[in-house]
Amino acid sequence: MKNPIRVAVTGAAGQIGYSLLFRIASGAMFGPDQPVILQLIEAPIEKALKALEGVAMELDDCAFPLLKGIVQTSDPAVGFKDANWCLLVGAKPRGPGMERADLLKDNGRIFIGQGQIIDAVAAADARVAVVGNPANTNCMIAASQAKRLPAERFTAMVRLDQNRAQTQLAKKAGVDLTAVKDIFIYGNHSPSMFPAFEHASIGGKAATRVITDLAWLQGPFCETVGKRGAAVIAARGASSAASAANALVDHVRSLVTPGAIHSVAVKSKGHYGFDPEVWAGMPVRTTTAGSYEVITGYAMDDFAKSKLAATNQELVEERAFVADMIK
Ligand code: NAD
Ligand code: LMR
Repeated sequence: MKNPIRVAVTGAAGQIGYSLLFRIASGAMFGPDQPVILQLIEAPIEKALKALEGVAMELDDCAFPLLKGIVQTSDPAVGFKDANWCLLVGAKPRGPGMERADLLKDNGRIFIGQGQIIDAVAAADARVAVVGNPANTNCMIAASQAKRLPAERFTAMVRLDQNRAQTQLAKKAGVDLTAVKDIFIYGNHSPSMFPAFEHASIGGKAATRVITDLAWLQGPFCETVGKRGAAVIAARGASSAASAANALVDHVRSLVTPGAIHSVAVKSKGHYGFDPEVWAGMPVRTTTAGSYEVITGYAMDDFAKSKLAATNQELVEERAFVADMIK
């Protein structure tokens, strides 16, 4: 039996948390032979902490063989202590009619303190995955606070967008979604993101040879994927939660699976023309568990270049908006 790893989750009593924790404890995130200790962090609010107690009771009641302990706390110094993975979900979600920019300052502040504490108390091999919105910019804020942990350890989630894009392509082509490969998300987790359809394949052929309606790919496809979060909010009255939790399981599972190729928002370092200091979605290949390299070889046509420029511009503007939160 392997030694348990410590997985810290913020916002553990929230909507995403409720769909996420049981999957981590069941082995879906780290594999069927990897025991875990869940370190559950909630805001210091009585109602949230009470709800967390109930979630912990339910975790106990599942009798998961891989779950070797549960910590419940509102103190991040306790919750992140020795954590190998820090899953930063806790943040305000967007409600109906809200723009993502409305969240920038409110949620950004959370990630200053969490970045500092993770850097101080988490395990030497700690990895951080940010889900709380605006995810790319929150990730940048947290990473900027860290002096010990390198920036590469901080990733933000664009996997929900990749999953959404894969399904939309499969539906349009009328194929099983497993036939769709290599659809990657570039840029911000926002409507400006670019799902790069020209690099995707469907049943082994270029996606653009299977779906020849370029106007659909450039228009409704990009728009549907980019605005799917808002569409779910409009329909459900609340932000997507189960699909976001599922995407985080995929995000981490792929990051611990050598050879996996997937979309992750990482520090750009100038790849694909992104500002070197922003966190932008792009394709990566997992090298060793927890480490990855950016796949840099994809050529971009004029349409793709204009989409990349627009999403980069938004990320640069978000960075300027929270400049006072970046070290
Ligand atoms: P929710 O309101 O149901 O839960 C959030 C939880 O976080 C609450 O229980 C709250 O008490 C807690 N929290 C707030 N501040 C905290 C802090 N400082 N430390 C610890 N916990 C804290 O929201 P949700 O639906 O679970 O969504 C969480 C976040 O995820 C939102 O910002 C949402 O926009 C974002 N989200 C991101 C994606 C993505 O693809 N990146 C997708 C869906 C949702
Ligand atoms: C989503 O993509 O579903 C979330 O990020 C919710 C949102 O605010 O768009």
